Amino acid sequence: MDNVIRIFDTTLRDGEQSPGCSMNIDEKLAMARQLEKLGVDVIEAGFPIASPGDFESVKRVAETVRGCEIAGLARCEPEDVDAAGEAVRGAANPRIHVFIATSDLHMRFKLRKSADEVLRDAVRSVEQARRYTQNVEFSAEDATRSDPEFLFRVFQAVIEAGAKVINVPDTVGYTVPSDYARLITSIRERVPNLGDTIISVHCHNDLGLGVANSLAAIQAGARQVECTVNGIGERAGNTSLEEVVMALRTRRDAFGVDTRIVTEEIYPSSRLLSSITGVSVQPNKAVVGANAFAHEAGIHQDGVLKNVMTYEIMTPQSIGRSSNELVLGKHSGRHAFRERLHALGFDLQPDQLDNAFQKFKVLADKKKVIYNEDLEVLVADAVLRMEDKFKLLSVNVSSGTGAVPAATVEMAIEDRVVKEAGFGDGPVDAVFRVIGSITQCKAQLVRYQVNAITGGTDAQGEVSVTLSEDGLTAIGQGAHTDIIVASAKAYLNAINKLEWRRSQNVGRRTDEKGP
Ligand code: KIV
Ligand code: ZN
Repeated sequence: MDNVIRIFDTTLRDGEQSPGCSMNIDEKLAMARQLEKLGVDVIEAGFPIASPGDFESVKRVAETVRGCEIAGLARCEPEDVDAAGEAVRGAANPRIHVFIATSDLHMRFKLRKSADEVLRDAVRSVEQARRYTQNVEFSAEDATRSDPEFLFRVFQAVIEAGAKVINVPDTVGYTVPSDYARLITSIRERVPNLGDTIISVHCHNDLGLGVANSLAAIQAGARQVECTVNGIGERAGNTSLEEVVMALRTRRDAFGVDTRIVTEEIYPSSRLLSSITGVSVQPNKAVVGANAFAHEAGIHQDGVLKNVMTYEIMTPQSIGRSSNELVLGKHSGRHAFRERLHALGFDLQPDQLDNAFQKFKVLADKKKVIYNEDLEVLVADAVLRMEDKFKLLSVNVSSGTGAVPAATVEMAIEDRVVKEAGFGDGPVDAVFRVIGSITQCKAQLVRYQVNAITGGTDAQGEVSVTLSEDGLTAIGQGAHTDIIVASAKAYLNAINKLEWRRSQNVGRRTDEKGP
């Protein structure tokens, strides 16, 4: 058996299904380019049948990213397989990923199909997918709660039909490492025509075991891991890419296998995803959390100063983290700016670069020290936004002890300029009320969060606002040295995203359509 573990990244599909993480086409493209730099083997770009927006983003990613296989997901339904086939057609190496549930529970209550019907649909879909590409993956949804004897039969039949990869999802995060390893071993022993078919694993994190289960499966012979950046995904998320990759790299002695991941691109990938979605990782998150390399206890600090290996099993540099490094100031030129963005993973078009550079100059006038984190937020703010319906032109507030907080907001709505004023319980509330009245937004404010991007009183405030309306959720972000302005930008960004999603019919929960 070879010792390369293929990384199948599903950040843009299973990851995107987590509440508030849906992305527009430009955001997906930016993330896909970064995944290519990261060196993932396969990018699952979406679920093409789910909506026209999903179809279009898979197609664009397939036509743009040439260095990875591009997969589209499909249920074992003829129209799904055709949609996936058409969407990935332009890829350098297209893959169609078909799935159907094999557990009694899912077959009986969700699919209302007999085991024989499921087996028939699985085979028919693999055969149909092979008319588009030889590169077909089959997933037995809820495999870990399926009857193993039936699972072996299904795998044997789909391999016979031409599947090159068989995936064993722990769809509901139910399994434990010893059981999962045993299941992988039994598939290797009991599927007679396995040959060089790759066994893939796909774990959810409901019991916090996604990474542990994936690693146990690798030890039992799995050679593809499905995972997401920052572990985003349905419910408690999917196996976290950075944790699996760094476990394999750091403990090569224990696993004896490795991935092709360029680990120095892990942190830029994590940051890019957070700045696109507005969903930040918890500070103590392994590998990419803010505290993952921070040594607080005196005894630890002392040890690290004497020899860093006393308390660090991997270096921050190995994951591309050069924390709080001073990067640029107001005298920096366009060239240095472009080089730095390139190093951070952003390859901008000339007009995008001009736009970002102008914003950088404005920021550099306000803020003495500009860090990598400032640049990431600035680019996300300046470049990765879709064409907004509502644009903020100006915002002014008055507040303080003894004053009723008041706000005046000026906005452009398509080609009209609208100005309104109003009061609120505080300056942020006043601004949100006025924006709500101008945009006629009825969405409910679910979460409002402010973070300082770096240290210092001149730090930019990064505001994240979550809005919800009619089952759609959108997270908006805004960054500015003035947190009222950052709040206004974040609120409007969320409103614009909701507008966009409504128009594209995206963000629909997958209960209706998918896994
Ligand atoms: O969790 C799951 O079962 C899935 C499949 C579609 C692979 O996401
Ligand atoms: Zn999944």
